[in-house]
Amino acid sequence: MAVDLLLGLQWGDEGKGKIVDVLTSNYNIIARFQGGPNAGHTLVFNGKKHVLHTIPSGIFHEDTTNLVGNGVVIDPVIFKSELDKLEDQNVDYRKSLVISRKAHIILPTHRLLDAASEASKGKAKIGSTLKGIGPTYMDKTGRNGIRVGDLELSDWKERYRALANKHESMISFYNVDIEYNLKELETEFFKAIEVLKSLQFIDSEEYIYQAQKSDKTILAEGAQGSLLDIDFGTYPFVTSSNTTAAGACTGLGVSPNKIGEVFGIFKAYTTRVGSGPFPTELFDKDGEDMARIGNEFGATTGRPRRCGWLDLVALRYACQVNGVTQLMMMKGDVLSGFKTLKVCTAYKYKGDIIQHFPYNIEPENVEPIYTEVEGWAEDLTNMSDASEMPKALNDYIDFLEKELEIPITIVSVGPDRKQTIFRNK
Ligand code: GDP
Ligand code: IMO
Ligand code: MG
Repeated sequence: MAVDLLLGLQWGDEGKGKIVDVLTSNYNIIARFQGGPNAGHTLVFNGKKHVLHTIPSGIFHEDTTNLVGNGVVIDPVIFKSELDKLEDQNVDYRKSLVISRKAHIILPTHRLLDAASEASKGKAKIGSTLKGIGPTYMDKTGRNGIRVGDLELSDWKERYRALANKHESMISFYNVDIEYNLKELETEFFKAIEVLKSLQFIDSEEYIYQAQKSDKTILAEGAQGSLLDIDFGTYPFVTSSNTTAAGACTGLGVSPNKIGEVFGIFKAYTTRVGSGPFPTELFDKDGEDMARIGNEFGATTGRPRRCGWLDLVALRYACQVNGVTQLMMMKGDVLSGFKTLKVCTAYKYKGDIIQHFPYNIEPENVEPIYTEVEGWAEDLTNMSDASEMPKALNDYIDFLEKELEIPITIVSVGPDRKQTIFRNK
């Protein structure tokens, strides 16, 4: 069977966790392929909210295998705290959670390096989640990293020491004030490593190959969003991995001709957390309303998310780069009560009208051109069938489908699993 992908098309936090959870009953395996604990994926069911960072969002379904792929970076300390929370919920993860030996490990000093790098940048900081993501991927591509499989080797602690020592000298090179107690951080780290070692490590590319051969269904769960992709995002204000479809091939060992559906997920408006350009960002009451009604605070850092209108130039670009076959629109309920909605359909770019996503999208280069559409007053949160959706919402969806030339097959109207409306292709 082909591997289906679910990817965020904006700057992250589109609602990936919720939809993966909703779709998990259709799949044997849910696999994360990139990112790490910079992600915060929220699931809500039976009146409870769960936030996952590294563990795939299929973990609450007993019969599903959850795989942490080679492209992921794992912080054992955060991983352990996720496992502790699952234990509190009586989730038996020992059978259902498997980890690639080729996944890289985030060391305590990677987190410190992230903090030092950000502090040294001053106003130009990326707004990183400070989880050590950038430094860990730098060590991966620099061929210095420590991988999960290394924990099975007898000399891994010496390799750890050598790398941590090197990191300490790099931290002092930054010449910024970072207070830390490495001994304490290491005590916590080594304890968490023991927990990690009690889980199943696998050669995940072989595992996935065999699963595909025996017709198992697999869904790859993206983290972050296309506009945070290291190559195609708003560089340098991006994360350090490929968040787009190609990342699933390298992050799991799946060949491109074995990719099936590509589910692209987007909010009915746009949000961004951290620094970087955002053409449709709002600084007025509409933006404040979106933030308040949408409860737009980061699931990992608690930072307020910046809000703005839907940007079809950026969304079209993300659909192209990923080869999206189906779209899912989230948080339509948040826009209830907005009299008029604005949708950016083109940019004014250095005097020209353009419809493609250009190299520079800073405010001095790009001015969004909006089409206005009628909003809907109805509360959507109790709706469960497409036939209940108000005309103005259907018109909004029709408009987006026409612009993007891709069907919107799911409309999400609230954080709960049940607040999900399926539409025919
Ligand atoms: P992810 O990182 O893509 O998994 O998304 P996050 O979990 O970081 O952020 C999405 C937030 O929106 C979470 O708080 C979800 O519970 C919530 N959410 C998801 N879908 C909907 C929806 O349709 N309506 C509303 N109001 N909230 C939603
Ligand atoms: P999920 O999977 C939203 C942003 C950070 C920062 C930039 C780089 O929940 O959608 P990093 O820590 O990766 O070096 O930060 O990327 N960022 C996210 N924004 N959702 C995420 O994940 C994010 N992961 C990273 O805010 O701007
Ligand atoms: Mg999130």
